[in-house]
Amino acid sequence: MTTAAQATTAPGAPGRARQRIGIAVIGFGWLGQAHARSMLRIPTLFPERDFEPELVVCGETDPRRADEAVRSFGFGSATGDWRRVMDDPAVDVVVIAAPNMLHLELIEAAAAAGKHIFCEKPVGGTPAQTVRAEKVARDAGVITGVGYNYRWAPLVRYARQLIADGRLGEITNYRGRFFSMYGADPLGVLSWRFLVDQAGHGVTTDLMSHAVDLAHMLIGPITRVVGTTETFIRERPLPAAGGTHYGRGRPEDPKGEVTNEDYAGMLCEFECGARGTFEASRAIVGPESQMAFDVYGTGGALGWNLEKLNELQVYLVEDEPHTGYRTVYGGDRFPYHGNFVPGSANGIGFEDLVVIEDYEFCRSVAAGRQHTPGFAEAVEWVSVQAALLRSAETGRWEPVVSLKED
Ligand SMILES: NC(=O)c1ccc[n+]([C@@H]2O[C@H](COP(=O)([O-])OP(=O)(O)OC[C@H]3O[C@@H](n4cnc5c(N)ncnc54)[C@H](O)[C@@H]3O)[C@@H](O)[C@H]2O)c1
Repeated sequence: MTTAAQATTAPGAPGRARQRIGIAVIGFGWLGQAHARSMLRIPTLFPERDFEPELVVCGETDPRRADEAVRSFGFGSATGDWRRVMDDPAVDVVVIAAPNMLHLELIEAAAAAGKHIFCEKPVGGTPAQTVRAEKVARDAGVITGVGYNYRWAPLVRYARQLIADGRLGEITNYRGRFFSMYGADPLGVLSWRFLVDQAGHGVTTDLMSHAVDLAHMLIGPITRVVGTTETFIRERPLPAAGGTHYGRGRPEDPKGEVTNEDYAGMLCEFECGARGTFEASRAIVGPESQMAFDVYGTGGALGWNLEKLNELQVYLVEDEPHTGYRTVYGGDRFPYHGNFVPGSANGIGFEDLVVIEDYEFCRSVAAGRQHTPGFAEAVEWVSVQAALLRSAETGRWEPVVSLKED
């Protein structure tokens, strides 16, 4: 398959032509805008790149946001009809940041048009949709990426290195969690995230997907789980048009029913022999955005938390007698921290991880190689999710069976 990305070049550093990559973004809310900003920032942060991203077209049904995409972000055009995006020959990559239950239809159309696809996590709203998306993209031979952005935190990658180098010894247990307060207030509006027909499942899809994906990257696959789910706040005020999950209604506003889960918890076993626990909640009071893990081994332990993304807690038995957790600060000795800010303990932020994520995805597209994490990794999470949801029904341990289609 020849795409415009392979066929055209753009001016770059002296003596070097950079491959032009035409970008479309569909869904121009929080993450759609974050990806567009990140494509705009890549040239100023990664002079070593061998590609040139170009914002070609934005697909967005809210006319104010579509207008902003052109006026403030510099997209060549915007449209309320995403089908027009797929027909555009100047588009090489479709970035999907629309509500989850739209993902599959968009992926099918993008794959049929031969576009490479970056889809926000979790790729679809149900395990069956994720599995279908992976198969469709694989059959079309397009490159896929998925928005598991915490994988790209420089200190998370350092944690992975420490584990892979054996500095923690044998991993015995793992604790993963994603606690967010976005749904803790009963007056938080009934945005698409709380509705099964728009979001698919609730926190298992929205939050636990991130926590388990990180565990997969750090210590490998999960073999069986036992879990439970609950919806604590069963109705919420209806949102005004364009309301997001951070919006608040008034006590007198009309209400609608929440149709997916607020909470999920599971106990699990890993293929490496470790045992683990995971929890996710959007209706918890206290932790505001605690996407975190603790990993324990015979030789040491590590802990990381998005709320302090520039700090890694490290305990190494080899440091005896000077043991105790120490705080390792982020800094330019950890790739790509120094692309954003020099020195040590000058912090980077949430959107910087999206920039690294988009940089790495565009590198894969420019090189014509499959990307990790791609839709195959998305299927690894939904295989665990399916086992968890089964267990919540049966009350029993359930095996994790790979759902990947042949
Ligand atoms: N990786 C992360 O950390 C992270 C964080 C937040 C959201 N997400 C993911 O990003 C995706 C979007 O979430 P969000 O928080 O940005 O949502 P959002 O509600 O802020 O934005 C969604 C946008 O999609 C638009 N839209 C709806 N239907 C459309 C259609 N048919 N065609 C074009 N546009 C349409 C809406 O008008 C809105 O602007 C979800 O899949 C979510 O899981 C990922």
